[in-house]
Amino acid sequence: MTSYPKTSALMARGAAFLGTEYAILCGAMSWVSERNLVAAISNAGGFGVIACGAMTPELLDAEITGTKALTDKPFGVNLITMHPALFDLIAVCAKHNVGHVVLAGGIPPKGSVEAIKAFGAKVIVFAPTIALAKKLFRSGADALVIEGSEAGGHIGPVSTSVLAQEFLPALAQDHIVFVAGGIGRGEAMAGYLEMGACGVQLGTRFACASESIAHPAFKQAFFRANARDAIASVQVDPRLPVIPVRALKNKGTEEFTAKQVEVAKLLDEGAVDMGQAQLQIEHFWAGALRRSVIDGDVERGSVMAGQSVGMVTKEEPVADIIAQLMQESEEALSRR
Ligand SMILES: Cc1cc2nc3c(=O)[nH]c(=O)nc-3n(C[C@H](O)[C@H](O)[C@H](O)COP(=O)(O)O)c2cc1C
Repeated sequence: MTSYPKTSALMARGAAFLGTEYAILCGAMSWVSERNLVAAISNAGGFGVIACGAMTPELLDAEITGTKALTDKPFGVNLITMHPALFDLIAVCAKHNVGHVVLAGGIPPKGSVEAIKAFGAKVIVFAPTIALAKKLFRSGADALVIEGSEAGGHIGPVSTSVLAQEFLPALAQDHIVFVAGGIGRGEAMAGYLEMGACGVQLGTRFACASESIAHPAFKQAFFRANARDAIASVQVDPRLPVIPVRALKNKGTEEFTAKQVEVAKLLDEGAVDMGQAQLQIEHFWAGALRRSVIDGDVERGSVMAGQSVGMVTKEEPVADIIAQLMQESEEALSRR
């Protein structure tokens, strides 16, 4: 097996925390991060994470069982904090003795961190500010992912490079911090590791791996796209909040802008009230990621992708992608 001594030394804390060979997480991607991709990542020495998304506890139960059948390596489960059955999902993770639970999509509700730690699992959280990160560590979180706006999917407003400069000097000495968003090559990974990160999380780079079940049309859309095609959704009217999502521009993203203008007009005319208007905006993308990932409708579905999509040019096995990242990082560190 190839060794990458300089990169592995910088990843040592992260790899020990995850129980993996490499401190490279494949961030949970709804519909994409199911048993096949998750097991492939973990079998290749990285850390796969099941995207629970809107799954019921029964579906999550089956997905964890299915993943365990494909790998005996550590993997995690990503739960969305506003899921109405969050505590039932945590109970499913407990039943399976899942080692790491990632809480995404908002501040963990009261009791959730405790419920996860109660069965001995590690809790990984996201935080948009250093103050909140410190608060979460005080309440028992074991590790933090900082994710910049270059990432695919739901995003915050600040870039990875700025978040890394703010968070890593403040937190990385005493805490486990992973960096995510816009990482496509090992040189970038090496940079964040040198700044104190324990490891990295990538999504876009892994979404079209050979082991990913994403529809061929979804993968083709990735291979064709450049960084500038992966755009953040735009909010047209301050009364109608839009949570920013980075995805490939297509007919759906154009229609979403038109829809907001139309709903704002209805609101002005008094034809709908504020609640109805906001619901129409919220519902626009319902089921849209499934439409692109599973059905292959890349025109009207949501093709969530980060800006590193331009570096995804062909289908490759997960093990090759991880080997490339490690090799690029090792060469970069050796040149220093
Ligand atoms: C298609 C897609 C779906 C995603 N779905 C989720 C999700 O369900 N939950 C989540 O926490 N993050 C989700 N993400 C974010 C990833 O977990 C990861 O943090 C992100 O992709 C890292 O940035 P990168 O895309 O620049 O590599 C998604 C990303 C993509 C590209």
